[in-house]
Amino acid sequence: MERLDKILANAMVGSRKEVVKLIRSGAVTVNETVVTDPAAKVNPDEDHITANHIPVCYREHYHLMMNKPDGYICATEDMREQTVLDLLSDDEVPKNKIFPAGRLDKDTEGFVFLTTDGKLAHRVTGPKNHVNKKYFVKVDKTIQSEWVAEFQKGITIDDGYTCKPAFLEMLSETTCHLTIFEGKFHQVKRMFEALGTTVTYLKRVQIGSLLLDDSLKLGEYRELTPAEITLLEIVPEEYKENL
Ligand code: URA
Repeated sequence: MERLDKILANAMVGSRKEVVKLIRSGAVTVNETVVTDPAAKVNPDEDHITANHIPVCYREHYHLMMNKPDGYICATEDMREQTVLDLLSDDEVPKNKIFPAGRLDKDTEGFVFLTTDGKLAHRVTGPKNHVNKKYFVKVDKTIQSEWVAEFQKGITIDDGYTCKPAFLEMLSETTCHLTIFEGKFHQVKRMFEALGTTVTYLKRVQIGSLLLDDSLKLGEYRELTPAEITLLEIVPEEYKENL
């Protein structure tokens, strides 16, 4: 059981103040009866709630896939920089509760998972869970075929840390897909720097078994379906065998 005003605010009917006013005005019903007490306890899964005659859909959590553009940081607020939350519409998403799970650099594009569910975020991005993240990478030098084995063995980066095995698939002389299973600061860029190569463009294209929806333009986002949410945590067999 939860407070009626909290349920309505969570369902994006209005701010907490606005919904309290709305409830007191007699515009809210629970199981066809007008309820004017904002603190009334209601079961959001079973009780039928309406506000201004419109059924209220209670949502505990929101999960979004965004195609992040260059120039935005993965944070919830910042004094100077624009954040990925600035790309979300106030009417559609509870911006006070959603956050990006994991970080892409300001100049990295692609798949950002945003969620209101801290536990799920941890399962997808927590360092011990080793969920794969796949990047499309452009570099300034010719990619060497021997690098496939070096990435798989584990690249040692500038601070002396040896990265977990990573999978490189060559796409052209200067482009590839790289799949990693951890998320150190600037990890992909630093792995290539360790091989004397600079990353000139980076885009995340996959998390777990879920691919970035290529119909999303830069800066666009959409909600994930329940099946897609499950895919975020599933490491494809091809990687499991090699790890
Ligand atoms: N690795 C990087 O270097 N940058 C990112 O944004 C993500 C992975």
